[in-house]
Amino acid sequence: MGATDFNMDNQGLPFPPNRHFKKDPRVLVAAKGMFFTTYDGKQVIDGVSSLWCVAAGHGREQIANAIKTQLDTLDYATAFQASNDKAFLAAKAIADLAPGDLNKVFFCNSGSEAADTSLKMALAYHRARGEGHRSVLIGRERGYHGVGFGGISVGGIPGNRKAFSSALLPRVDHMAFIHDPVNHAFVHNVEPVWEVDALADLENRILPLHDPSNVAAIIVEPIAGSAGWYIPPRGYLKRLREICDKHGILLIFDEVITGFGRLGTPFAADYFDVVPDMLNFAKCVTNGVFPMGGVICREHMYEAMMSGPEHVVEFLHGYTYSGHPVACAAALATLDIYKQENLFARAGEMGTVLGDAMHAEMRDLPNVIGVRSLGLAAAVELKGITGSPGKRAYDIFLECYHNGVMVRPAGENLVLAPPFIVETSHIDQMVSTLGAAIRKHS
Ligand SMILES: Cc1ncc(COP(=O)(O)O)c(C=O)c1O
Repeated sequence: MGATDFNMDNQGLPFPPNRHFKKDPRVLVAAKGMFFTTYDGKQVIDGVSSLWCVAAGHGREQIANAIKTQLDTLDYATAFQASNDKAFLAAKAIADLAPGDLNKVFFCNSGSEAADTSLKMALAYHRARGEGHRSVLIGRERGYHGVGFGGISVGGIPGNRKAFSSALLPRVDHMAFIHDPVNHAFVHNVEPVWEVDALADLENRILPLHDPSNVAAIIVEPIAGSAGWYIPPRGYLKRLREICDKHGILLIFDEVITGFGRLGTPFAADYFDVVPDMLNFAKCVTNGVFPMGGVICREHMYEAMMSGPEHVVEFLHGYTYSGHPVACAAALATLDIYKQENLFARAGEMGTVLGDAMHAEMRDLPNVIGVRSLGLAAAVELKGITGSPGKRAYDIFLECYHNGVMVRPAGENLVLAPPFIVETSHIDQMVSTLGAAIRKHS
């Protein structure tokens, strides 16, 4: 297949620079295991699990068969006037995996919808308890919660907010980012210990400013994924939990990236031993093959919302495709694979291999100012080019792609987060290709 065999005039591309893409297209036409096949017949290793989704690797027959069977049995069923058997089975499987009393699953179709769903649930829950005045939502600088208006309002990536700032939600604030570039530039499989208290600003300034009794929820990614894999200081999430408990504020973990095994445990909540009030998921729940997202909430939140006459809708929220039977069939097959192949534990083991390799290769390369790894993901941070933010990382990403490795540029970072089936030989290929590209673009 050649570049002229398909017409690129009609699709607006999500996030990549459209004009540059069309000059140098990265069009993928097939995938199996760890590898893509490109339109011009090259093999490219998937170093990023295709946007952190494809944990079990590409082309899993078990998932494809479950989808085919579901399509032949119940293709779709109205989600509002009825439900379907697979939705209940999938919700049970997910709830069984979740920690603590995170037992009630509200399905949606993406991480962005999960963000908006969780924020709306926070407001609905407080209102149901007679605390409708709790409407302040708090996110964190450089946080990413998708592209809905709720998600970008609590999100903290300036570029994503800039064009829409006049229309973002009111009564939103942001905690300070969690990175110490001097003392914790290089972090491998540990939570860095901070001298300063990373949550002092929340306790001493942000909460008093709004008054804690007005705050509905705090939302964080346990590890800042889209910003470039930034790991929280030791004890940070536990203390955040304590602060939320002290003031009756709901804690939301956005586990769209960390959910389903990336850290070697089912969720980051397990890894950090902190149970949030709501946990957002998407991506790996179906191995990326069918759109699905969701919010798992704690038992008491759900019960509090179940008030009023029985025939009246309690939580006025839901999507046409919430609990889509085909998505749920895909999720059930995916969760079976994770269990049968013990893939979460494997992610933890291969994470050490990846982190070791990244630190050994990258530390002394030109322009490298940090390397961070935890679980099966690692980022190398580079000194940016003055006046051209992100350009160096973007050029290195292109170089890697042309040399057969898909990496993810994130600001001045390059991130590797391969499928959990990754082998040491794949890691060697990914890390050496990335290292060579960093040298070339120094
Ligand atoms: C933490 C987090 N939340 C939300 C999202 C948005 O997910 P989606 O692109 O499925 O809407 C992402 C996407 O990468 C994410 O990393």
